Amino acid sequence: MLVPIVALVPLAVAEALLPLTAAVTHLRPLRAAVDRVAALRAEPAAERPAPQLCTGVRLIAPELRWPGTTAPALRGVDLRIPPGTHVAVVGPSGSGKSTLVAALLGFLPADVLARPATAAWAPQDPVLVSTSVRENLRMADPHADDARLAAALAAAGLPGFDLDALATAVSGGEAQRIALARALLAEAGLVLLDEPTAHLDEPTARAVLAGIKEALADRVVVHVTHRPAEAATADVVVEVTGGGVRALSRA
Ligand SMILES: Nc1ncnc2c1ncn2[C@@H]1O[C@H](COP(=O)(O)OP(=O)(O)OP(=O)(O)O)[C@@H](O)[C@H]1O
Ligand SMILES: [Mg+2]
Repeated sequence: MLVPIVALVPLAVAEALLPLTAAVTHLRPLRAAVDRVAALRAEPAAERPAPQLCTGVRLIAPELRWPGTTAPALRGVDLRIPPGTHVAVVGPSGSGKSTLVAALLGFLPADVLARPATAAWAPQDPVLVSTSVRENLRMADPHADDARLAAALAAAGLPGFDLDALATAVSGGEAQRIALARALLAEAGLVLLDEPTAHLDEPTARAVLAGIKEALADRVVVHVTHRPAEAATADVVVEVTGGGVRALSRA
């Protein structure tokens, strides 16, 4: 009775070791990759390539259509944004403002999309990972120290906010400002802000707008807003309505 069981043992051991052999085979490239990431994290910020900030944006799209839909959300889009311009995007709910942002991110196919290599996006409904606020912010820049994270939070209207706080325990307005701080930290040439002040009271929204203006003075900023006061401070106002996009004013 004992013999067959003993005979089976080497087979079982071999099966147990097989995944280990595969793991050992992958160990060397894995270690090389880990070393590369560690080297990148250790690299001082000054030696990293400067972000490409001074580029304009060009978007040409006869139709912008969401996958799985029959009708285009927007038609005849022809947008040119000079470097350093702050654009306010206004228009009724459901008119296609977030669709325009999606096209600028390259999520929807367009005939022409020329824009800075790096784009940061604070979505209308931001998603935070369920770790600390600090970890959520560091997604934009793993090199950022706590002082830099705190400065970004202050610019986004959350001065003194606890970096150790759990991201799942923040309010909707706080989540939006954390997403905004993350977009500020990314040092992107194009910054897309989809209603960043929608959940905020008037004075807080004003402070947040001032923070955005200062932190992003040299970037192309596309800022979707329902607040006329915010649109009034932009260089260009673009209205999305009736299935189309048109510039309302130019500085
Ligand atoms: N992910 C998606 N998939 C399919 N259709 C979408 C998607 N997002 C938006 N749409 C459709 O595109 C059209 C424009 O919506 P969009 O979200 O761009 O409007 P909006 O101007 O941003 O509205 P709001 O002010 O309410 O945010 C709507 O008909 C909407 O149903
Ligand atoms: Mg929207």
